[in-house]
Amino acid sequence: MAPSHEHRFRRLGAVLAEWQPVWQPLPFQHRRLSWECRYPAMAEALRALSEDEAERLQADPFTASPLSGWLPVAELAELVQLPDLAPQGPTLPDAWGAFVGGRKWRQIQAFAPLVTSDAELVEWCAGKGHLARGMARWHGVGVEALEWQAELCRSGHELARRQGVAVQLHQQDVLAEGVSHWLTPSTRVMALHACGDLHGRLLELAARRGASVTLAPCCYQRTEAERYRPLSEQGWQDMAEQGWRLCRDDLAMAVQETVTAPSGVRRQRRRANAWRLGFDALQRDVSGRDAYLPVPSLAYGRMPDDFAAFCQWAAGRKAVALPAHIDWARYEAEGFRRLDEVTRLELVRHVFRRPLEVWLALDRVRLMEEAGFQVGFGTFCKRDLTPRNLVIEATPAG
Ligand SMILES: C[S@@+](CC[C@H](N)C(=O)[O-])C[C@H]1O[C@@H](n2cnc3c(N)ncnc32)[C@H](O)[C@@H]1O
Repeated sequence: MAPSHEHRFRRLGAVLAEWQPVWQPLPFQHRRLSWECRYPAMAEALRALSEDEAERLQADPFTASPLSGWLPVAELAELVQLPDLAPQGPTLPDAWGAFVGGRKWRQIQAFAPLVTSDAELVEWCAGKGHLARGMARWHGVGVEALEWQAELCRSGHELARRQGVAVQLHQQDVLAEGVSHWLTPSTRVMALHACGDLHGRLLELAARRGASVTLAPCCYQRTEAERYRPLSEQGWQDMAEQGWRLCRDDLAMAVQETVTAPSGVRRQRRRANAWRLGFDALQRDVSGRDAYLPVPSLAYGRMPDDFAAFCQWAAGRKAVALPAHIDWARYEAEGFRRLDEVTRLELVRHVFRRPLEVWLALDRVRLMEEAGFQVGFGTFCKRDLTPRNLVIEATPAG
């Protein structure tokens, strides 16, 4: 039998807390990680991995993992096994997805059948209201959609008008005071990929006002608070007992997995990351300080053509005075060597990434259960369509 949400949440929290000193440090920031002295053989095993093996484990950290000798890989694999809630029946037709990106439309097609039309539908943080339009057309009902950006509301209205669909987009800041009147016991609020505080607000209001919710959460790190504040009572209690905390960088780890990019983009990304690490090696030598110096990211189109130009740009941004003569080839090669090393050491974090994401989602599940809701929790699509594939379906009990 599957464990209860309460049990799964507690157990995941206990494992994450115990192993936090191993998964928390960011390998690109440290030439030597603090856990390496405790687990030297694990670090050695990682550094020795072939490129193919490292790539395989990035995509699938739980299968045949060489880390099983040190980390609770099997238990974590089991704790992140969730029911597949993807419905088998009909969904929104492909033809209705005109004006929507192909991948986004397939996500909406997977999500829509989970939104029961037993109540008045409201879309939260709707963008142009693509989901709202699909639902309105499918069920022949009016749908209200809340979106903050006026331009998106205008485009959404125009699309609804062209398709003859009864969707009203309201320019509404969902963090503002006046938003709660949208949530009533006869409302179901749907939110596909609403970020941190935006979906936190939705759940807290829905719990208080008795509105039903179908939510696919994402971007937990988009939050005002520097340090993670659990949403559920259980979250507060468990974290206090287990003695751990989460900062924004930790939350970002939970959503770092992205859909595999095309090979050209991956090549560019690899080069950009190697250059950043090459610059880091250079700035440590120049400054005499063995400490990581964060450099802002550059849009790919704006990346300089060669490593020297990149370092000069980065040095300018960080006020690092570079000497006249630099062995650029040596530092560039060091950047690529470090990248290979960092990629392998990152595999430790990959083992804990999905467990952290599931733990964060379960904190939201528990908030709703504590408020007396019936909560379904599982996945709504395969991870290659979107790795943010968790869905929370909460309905007031009775
Ligand atoms: C990640 S997008 C999701 C959009 C849409 N649900 C989708 O799946 O494509 C988040 C949306 O939230 C909107 N948003 C951000 N802050 C908001 C706020 N305070 N109130 C209402 N909407 C907000 C953004 O403008 C954006 O359209």
